[in-house]
Amino acid sequence: MSLIQPTDALGPLASAHPTAVPVLWDLGLDFCCGGAQTLGQACTDKGLDVRQTVARIEAALTVQSDQPHWARAPLPALIDHLVDRFHQPMPADLDRLKAMAEKLVRVHGDRHPRLARMRDVVLALEADLLPHLMKEEQILFPLILAGRGAQAGGPVHVMHLEHDAAGELLAELRALTDDHTPPEEACGTWRGFYSALKTFEGELMQHIHLENNALFPRALAGE
Ligand SMILES: [Fe+2]
Ligand SMILES: [Fe+2]
Repeated sequence: MSLIQPTDALGPLASAHPTAVPVLWDLGLDFCCGGAQTLGQACTDKGLDVRQTVARIEAALTVQSDQPHWARAPLPALIDHLVDRFHQPMPADLDRLKAMAEKLVRVHGDRHPRLARMRDVVLALEADLLPHLMKEEQILFPLILAGRGAQAGGPVHVMHLEHDAAGELLAELRALTDDHTPPEEACGTWRGFYSALKTFEGELMQHIHLENNALFPRALAGE
């Protein structure tokens, strides 16, 4: 029997098979905030052939990853990874995005009013995400590290809602930027801004995926 089924939900699939994540990302299949959706349904919505997609994902399962398997690694190691890899760089990444967006609004904003909306969405992401990281680092992660994750249903619920809100802002940026495709006349800063946005989105999706699909369920189960 095939390892991957169209009835598999995208979040658990990505969690069980980390080397499938780049394929899901390339295909635009949302394994983090949309992780409850089945692979089959997501393919239908995106107009992708289900059998070809399953074959492509299965081909990726043979890839050797040098990353620990975060669905099985000890929770303290997973939390260290989340903080070091995703939390620490985020304030500087957001500062860079804001500076680029401000410059673009200043130089091109009068002829391209969408740029001001992009800048505002970046500001909204910052306003949501920086307090979110603090709540995880100061409240939720210490609870989990103290072995009290099973009692953390309330904070985990709030984190899920905040992840969904960030996912909606990312979706708005994707729509505003035509999937990070710069217009022909775009200058270097504009191209750099879209490229940085795309990288930021990829990192944030991996980050939210590891929390929603690996850390939170395992902590709630009392690990
Ligand atoms: Fe986080
Ligand atoms: Fe989070």
